Amino acid sequence: MQNATLHQLKVFEAVARHSSFTRAAEELFLTQPTVSMQVKQLSKTVGMPLFEQIGKRLYLTPAGKELYSTCQEVFDRLSQFEIAIADLKGLKQGTLRIAVVTTAKYVIPRILGPFCQRYPGIDISLTVTNHQYIFDSLSVNRDDLYIISQLPDDSEAQTHPFMENPLVVLAPGNHPLAHEKDIPLERLAEEPFIMREPGSGTRKAVQKLFDDHGISMRVKLDLGSNEAIKQAIAGGLGVSVLSKHTLALEGLNSQLAILDVEGFPIHRQWYVVYPSGKQLSAIAQAFFDYLLNEGKQVAERTAFQGLL
Ligand code: PGA
Repeated sequence: MQNATLHQLKVFEAVARHSSFTRAAEELFLTQPTVSMQVKQLSKTVGMPLFEQIGKRLYLTPAGKELYSTCQEVFDRLSQFEIAIADLKGLKQGTLRIAVVTTAKYVIPRILGPFCQRYPGIDISLTVTNHQYIFDSLSVNRDDLYIISQLPDDSEAQTHPFMENPLVVLAPGNHPLAHEKDIPLERLAEEPFIMREPGSGTRKAVQKLFDDHGISMRVKLDLGSNEAIKQAIAGGLGVSVLSKHTLALEGLNSQLAILDVEGFPIHRQWYVVYPSGKQLSAIAQAFFDYLLNEGKQVAERTAFQGLL
């Protein structure tokens, strides 16, 4: 059946439905010899006759009946597919797959809220992970869109900045440096430091700043989570550098203080990224446009007052 064409199946289906070559030809705007020829070729492909003529009437053979019900299933599936595609084009249904770095989880869900209200039939798959994992996903084209704050060195990707993502120094609220101004980097380096895990973009940015100044740090603890680091700071284990957005929910009620250290905040951006040459789905394109046009305003509107 691999050699049968969709056109032949359509012609056969019409003949079977009308029990008539003439009426099928009229319906399909074809000549009767063309219709007969298509059915003849199809029955050759099947290897059995599909119709039998008894007197003036045309009947389906057992093979013809099998093929007729197969045709109905095939055409049903095709029309369901057409509806699904029309819905996708109209952004009525489908899944948007986004992978974001750990800090974007403080903002992206709030940006997604109004977007999902606008397109209620859309499901979201949101992966939150560090830069290294995002770069891996990007290289195998696993998701529709990626949100990162450090661009990959070697990949061909479309990158568009949409919002600031500054890194700040955090210490317990009662830390002796909490009210000091212009704290030298050397002084900060004397404090026990809590560092994100290898593969983290935050870690890379902090390490680079210290390396650029030729200063080494006293890393006391490696932790793979921004939230765990905040708890560790509050517990007096040390100081750390994290995105200011990690304070999103506690805001000014936080038990943590932002220290005024030379070289900070480290100014960075979030970028929305996808591989060059990737054909974005209608949903991904709609979210991409929304993020660039409205994302920042929505995030600011819904953020804890005074934080951004
Ligand atoms: P990370 O990235 O989770 O890889 O540290 C966070 C960020 O750069 O904001």
